[in-house]
Amino acid sequence: MDDLDTSRLDLERIPHHVGVIMDGNGRWAGDRGLERTAGHAAGEAALYDCALGALEIGLEWLTVFTFSTENWSRSAEEVQFLMLFNEDLLGRRRDDLHERGVRMFFAGDLDDPRIPQSNKDRMREAMELTSANRRLNLVFAFNYGGRSELVRAAREIAGLSATGEIIPEEVDADLMQAHLAVPDMPDADLIIRTSGEQRISNFLLWQSAYAEYVFPEILWPDFRQQDLVDCIAEYQSRKRRFGRA
Ligand code: IPE
Ligand code: IPE
Ligand code: MG
Repeated sequence: MDDLDTSRLDLERIPHHVGVIMDGNGRWAGDRGLERTAGHAAGEAALYDCALGALEIGLEWLTVFTFSTENWSRSAEEVQFLMLFNEDLLGRRRDDLHERGVRMFFAGDLDDPRIPQSNKDRMREAMELTSANRRLNLVFAFNYGGRSELVRAAREIAGLSATGEIIPEEVDADLMQAHLAVPDMPDADLIIRTSGEQRISNFLLWQSAYAEYVFPEILWPDFRQQDLVDCIAEYQSRKRRFGRA
């Protein structure tokens, strides 16, 4: 960690919120003649290292895509591994991240009956334990899909309208935001997708409206905090325009 090179970074202009699509675990394992699940296991070190890097440079929000609503279509073995892995990871890292001042969130459909109850309990405990922390907001997008997040918000707002608590004219972007999975999550400034794939795969659809994208050709298990810093340096070299001329 001491050799993290931040010389290319403008520490005054660290993005508020970075989202990461941690992709390439299966290919990493395949390259080594291993089962796909070995790639997921190896990805934990990358995630932990990036969280430490985020703390070091003062990033406020880091959202990582750990399981998509579409990932249920993988083999039963892989899905089961990912469910247990999420739970184990919390057991191993929760207290350490808590001591470092990390506030942990889980964005996604946590009520899904396919998620083991023990996993749901671990996620809830981690959120409660770390709720007062303020150094880094680490959001696990778990059983997360951008469309499902927006559908849920629309459903809640429709409910408020049906009971007369609001009138349709009151529905605006702020009200939508208030009904998202993590209402105080700021817009994503930068979205990183590893492994060379260049697509959003239903991640942070609302929050990424004006995000910059970086697609490093690194498989997720090989990604380290220095790569995160390099992606942020690339982000800082971009000119964001927000529709202005
Ligand atoms: C990303 O790696 C991790 C999850 C989707 C859980 P993949 O498992 O998608 O790895 P590739 O894309 O098959 O290499
Ligand atoms: C997105 O990666 C989901 C996660 C990283 C958890 P996928 O590997 O599932 O996405 P596609 O299927 O290649 O679009
Ligand atoms: Mg993939």
